[in-house]
Amino acid sequence: VSLKPFNTFGIDAKATSYCNISTVEQLKNILASQHTNPLFILGGGSNMLLTKDIEALVLHINLKGLTIVNETDNKVTVKAMAGENWHEFVLWCLEQNYGGIENLSLIPGNVGTAPIQNIGAYGVELKDVFVSCEAIHIKSQQLKTFTKKDCNFDYRESVFKQDLKSQYIITSVNFELTKTNHRLHMDYGAIKDQLNVFNIAEPTIRHISKAVIAIRQSKLPDPKDIGNSGSFFKNPIISKDEFETLNDNFPDIPSYQISDKEVKIPAGWLIEKAGFKGKRFNDYGVHKEQALVLVNYGNAKGKDIFELAKLLQKTIKRIFNIEIETEVNII
Ligand code: EPU
Repeated sequence: VSLKPFNTFGIDAKATSYCNISTVEQLKNILASQHTNPLFILGGGSNMLLTKDIEALVLHINLKGLTIVNETDNKVTVKAMAGENWHEFVLWCLEQNYGGIENLSLIPGNVGTAPIQNIGAYGVELKDVFVSCEAIHIKSQQLKTFTKKDCNFDYRESVFKQDLKSQYIITSVNFELTKTNHRLHMDYGAIKDQLNVFNIAEPTIRHISKAVIAIRQSKLPDPKDIGNSGSFFKNPIISKDEFETLNDNFPDIPSYQISDKEVKIPAGWLIEKAGFKGKRFNDYGVHKEQALVLVNYGNAKGKDIFELAKLLQKTIKRIFNIEIETEVNII
């Protein structure tokens, strides 16, 4: 089975076998009967780079459904099943006038994988609206509820990438959203600029979503046209002292203060400064509008893209003495 249609990088890796999962019962039964065989859990396929064939049974989590589990005059708790497409979920919320995830418009992938890396964009992270999630323990097939605290969310991090890596399959996520008095997140300069372009003085959550969509479409390639997994690396966090030294050599280096002692540096800037923005090697390369995004122009091999990633890491280390970590899962 080719996994090409199931990963946004569009890598043509093969899997030994494939199973579409549409109910939690079915998932439990398969986990129980296949417990001695290698399994590979696939969600939206938007945050992975396949560098080899997958010698395992692929379980494609396509659990669907949206339910309102609690509602007051001002707030609503929505339970979304793991296989719901993230952006379609955002659009559904906007139709109901539920606020909180409009800044996360157009992020590829599914609801169930969003907590794993605590997806975030334009000043909002999943953890800001997350209440809890349900997940199946692969070994015992027991369903467990994880509260926000249990998840240990951090910048592109959660317990599901750390201590509990590969142990659970998230089946649904509960979100708390606003029905009235929406809190708009417009600190990100690009959003304000885009609202000005649209000539909108009193923005609503729908306007914010439209602005985010416009910004993303201008910089980030649509996986339907050019294979990619969004940001390939995390933005590195360095100490203020290291930053001061760098700033002497590179006075134009951008940074965001994240605490008294630490700053975050946009990895896209480092890659651009190193001369790789828009570089193309055969069928793969660095995106021309956003250097943090690696792209597959057609039939690139995952291995080639991985080699390019290592070259970028090495070069950034040499020039800036900064280690950049991959955000995408390398498989
Ligand atoms: N920059 C450059 N050259 C580039 C790209 C970026 O110089 O080619 C510099 C510019 O100074 C720019 C700054 O980096 O102002 C920030 O760029 P951008 O707003 O595009 O955001 P980012 O830091 O590159 C992060 C997230 C994105 C998210 C945006 C917006 C990470 C790893 N990435 O990117 O998330 O959409 O902020 O909030 O944190 C993703 O995770 O897949 C993703 C797309």
